[in-house]
Amino acid sequence: MANQALKEEVARYWNKASCGTEYTDKSKYSAEYFNDIENLRYRIEPEIFSFAQFTRFRNKKVLEVGVGAGTDFTQWLRAGALAYGIDLTQEAIDNVTNRLDLENLKPQDLQVADAEQIPYQDNFFDLVYSWGVIHHSPNTVRCLEEIIRVTKPNGTIKLMIYNRHSLFAFYRYICTVLSKGNPFQSFKSVLYNHQESIGTKAYTLKEIRMLLKKYPVEIKHMKASVTNHDLLYYKSHLYQRAAYTIASLLGWNHVGWFMTIELNKKSNA
Ligand SMILES: C[S@@+](CC[C@H](N)C(=O)[O-])C[C@H]1O[C@@H](n2cnc3c(N)ncnc32)[C@H](O)[C@@H]1O
Repeated sequence: MANQALKEEVARYWNKASCGTEYTDKSKYSAEYFNDIENLRYRIEPEIFSFAQFTRFRNKKVLEVGVGAGTDFTQWLRAGALAYGIDLTQEAIDNVTNRLDLENLKPQDLQVADAEQIPYQDNFFDLVYSWGVIHHSPNTVRCLEEIIRVTKPNGTIKLMIYNRHSLFAFYRYICTVLSKGNPFQSFKSVLYNHQESIGTKAYTLKEIRMLLKKYPVEIKHMKASVTNHDLLYYKSHLYQRAAYTIASLLGWNHVGWFMTIELNKKSNA
């Protein structure tokens, strides 16, 4: 599928429901609706706090790329950051706007925009943060280049992208092969066709290390710790024990679904 057509499909998918909003039955945009989304998010993905370190960016210019329902974006503002946010969909921007209004929080800017063409000037942000977004965009490398461009020299970039060599990717593969009866699909094609919006990609730690060598960034942190998704939190205790054992054998910091990457943009960039 051509890039533009694929991007329209991605936007159509996320415009139906922003990430996490499908898990609440409360009235849309009510305080209870946002509380449900926030509680569930941080119960399942508690690693977000130690990775994002929201409170370290008070009075700093922070851009969040792909705000979704705005749960993390709200944390930046609560922590006193000068927060800017973009998302490909109006649905996300509407969610975030309503959410911020409830808490009387004011972003510096919040707009529908494409991570492949970030609408801000070069060398502008102290931090660019993006959790689970750029692997959904047809040109993920272009998103990365844009993120590096708008980050200040010596500034920080924090990204989460999916890890193809993870327990979760393996389970998705097994489930898809069993349900579709086609064992001749690759991990890549299963994730591309069956993981959230069409065109989803997942990378290995090695692929990302190779890619980053081309850019003026230094890797401060990069790992793929095992998450609740890898430990099958939604399955029975027996499955969870099995997943726990496999994670112990394969390595807790390598086979997780979330690859977390912290980069420093070089000062001479
Ligand atoms: C899995 S959700 C993650 C949202 C949020 N970061 C979170 O963790 O809940 C993916 C989001 O990425 C957005 N997205 C996908 N491609 C994008 C692009 N090219 N530019 C901006 N946002 C994009 C989607 O609209 C969607 O809101």
